[in-house]
Amino acid sequence: MARYDQIDYWDDRYANDTQPFEWYQSYSGIRHFFTPKYLQQSKNENTSSITCPHIDRALIVGCGNSQLGQGMLGDGFKSITNVDFSSVLIKQMTTKYSEQWHREFFKRQREEKRLEKEEGSSPKPSLTDLNKHTRLSKQSPAKEVNKTTIGNKMTFHWHDVAKKLEFPPESFDLIVCKGTLDAILCNQNASNKVKMMLSECHRVLDDRHGVMVIVSYGAPDERMDCFDNVLWSEIKSYTVPKPFVPGQNHQVGAEHHVYILFKRAGLGSASPRHVGAELAVL
Ligand SMILES: C[S@@+](CC[C@H](N)C(=O)[O-])C[C@H]1O[C@@H](n2cnc3c(N)ncnc32)[C@H](O)[C@@H]1O
Repeated sequence: MARYDQIDYWDDRYANDTQPFEWYQSYSGIRHFFTPKYLQQSKNENTSSITCPHIDRALIVGCGNSQLGQGMLGDGFKSITNVDFSSVLIKQMTTKYSEQWHREFFKRQREEKRLEKEEGSSPKPSLTDLNKHTRLSKQSPAKEVNKTTIGNKMTFHWHDVAKKLEFPPESFDLIVCKGTLDAILCNQNASNKVKMMLSECHRVLDDRHGVMVIVSYGAPDERMDCFDNVLWSEIKSYTVPKPFVPGQNHQVGAEHHVYILFKRAGLGSASPRHVGAELAVL
């Protein structure tokens, strides 16, 4: 059985291979999911209190050395908190994504925008541009990058996401889980761990517009049972084509699955704590 649920497996893997690795999809393959079109609940739900999400504060659970957070930072997310239970990885990522890295990253971005403007080519729309409902700006993209990137930051922390998270309630607008749910499902005690992870993710999501995006190889008939309908007011599922990877067998029509879970508003903190308490005695 795969050992993707084991800390020592990941510590060894990251110690022996420090190259960035992308599970399933790179950011460009799933970027469109971080737009109002996907992050808003259906109109037929009781969404009177739900506004278009302000997706500034993101949490990436089981971040690995993927470049997802970097892509999101480039798209204007203000704060990206990455967690993983491999201390080897967290050390590597904290060293890599230093203050200096952030300064150079945003400098490069500004330079690219300036060149695009000078050449007259239309700049790649940032997520800021795509999120017109919430962040409509009359400024040029170049100016907007200047304005929005001051203080924007990506941080890395050790956490076992199948345990209580050390974040206060409602700390995040968006949680992204790419491959981590699948890794936890390799555990013999997976169902309790998955419940704990999802209940903690629910707790730390903003009550009004909190949303969780899960990228998985598992199809809805294998994954929907993992999601507790008490916690989520709506769950949508989508597919994305598996990217072609040179040297790997590519099955035409093969897909990955993307689940978008909308936090059920108005539960307060009672429900998640209740779920956590139930788990504690299992
Ligand atoms: C399949 S990899 C995905 C990595 C990255 N999200 C990506 O898309 O490339 C799973 C990651 O989750 C981490 N992980 C697995 N179980 C975890 C847990 N219980 N708590 C925190 N991290 C976990 C592993 O260390 C690994 O980095």
